[in-house]
Amino acid sequence: MKRPLITAEDLQASPDMVVPVGARLTPLARDLLRKRGGLVEHTYSPLARRLLIANWKSHKTLGEARDFARALVGRVRPPTALRLVVCPPFTALATLGEALRGVAELGAQDLSPHEEGAHTGEVAARHLVDVGCSYALVGHSERRAAGEDDALVATKLGRALEAGLHPVLCVGETAEERASGRAEAVVSTQLGRALRDVSPVQLRDVVVAYEPRWAIGKGVTPTPDEIGAILEHVRESLRQSAPEVAERVSVLYGGSVKPQNAGPILGLADCNGALVGGASLDAELFAGILEAGT
Ligand code: PGA
Repeated sequence: MKRPLITAEDLQASPDMVVPVGARLTPLARDLLRKRGGLVEHTYSPLARRLLIANWKSHKTLGEARDFARALVGRVRPPTALRLVVCPPFTALATLGEALRGVAELGAQDLSPHEEGAHTGEVAARHLVDVGCSYALVGHSERRAAGEDDALVATKLGRALEAGLHPVLCVGETAEERASGRAEAVVSTQLGRALRDVSPVQLRDVVVAYEPRWAIGKGVTPTPDEIGAILEHVRESLRQSAPEVAERVSVLYGGSVKPQNAGPILGLADCNGALVGGASLDAELFAGILEAGT
């Protein structure tokens, strides 16, 4: 059942209103609550981590990674309103871990479905933990396009959890699926298959990133209302499978997030942050997104 939407008028009419955990708020209502004393985290998800994750994909040499780190460290002052995570190519993990200490955490863009062993070219979860990673993207659409199916995504997600990493499970529909009204169904199926063997206790460590495939790297995004509807659908699916932890799961949006569009997206009631590709390559733009969400 849909939770009622609380508007700024509702809050003005009842200044002492207690806003329940998990409440849906309009952006104006959220602003108002924030002005009344920093109630925002408290109102919709007290324990959820708000996250801003950079996915560098196959970009940046070590020198370029160091330049980014210097610029970011000079630009943001911890503790930041959203926890920062950078997912560089594997080769830059160790360098960035040092260079961003205290400012951003480390994530991997992928991991092996194997624990360890004779698997040439694979980087396993334990290697990622060893180099200082706390997060690992799982099921990014570019990996799905390269042939990863839901079963492989589920195996990788399990490996990440076993090793103590937060898997960032990426889900999202294609343009055709959206056009035919199947966006929510596609997202539900991907979620259900990836999380089939995940217990409620483990689910607390999972991050879900809704990334419509047609918005990734294209400079176009759904409207905030459209994003809000899917994020709410994700939250509701989590509630149905594990009501006790659903509010604690970080649910992010990804797909052409930039400083110019980040404010309304990060202000959505069920949005706990963003997964950013192109704009995360530039420390100034990445910091701009952080500011838009602060
Ligand atoms: P984008 O990429 O921000 O460049 O659209 C997002 C992603 O692929 O995670």
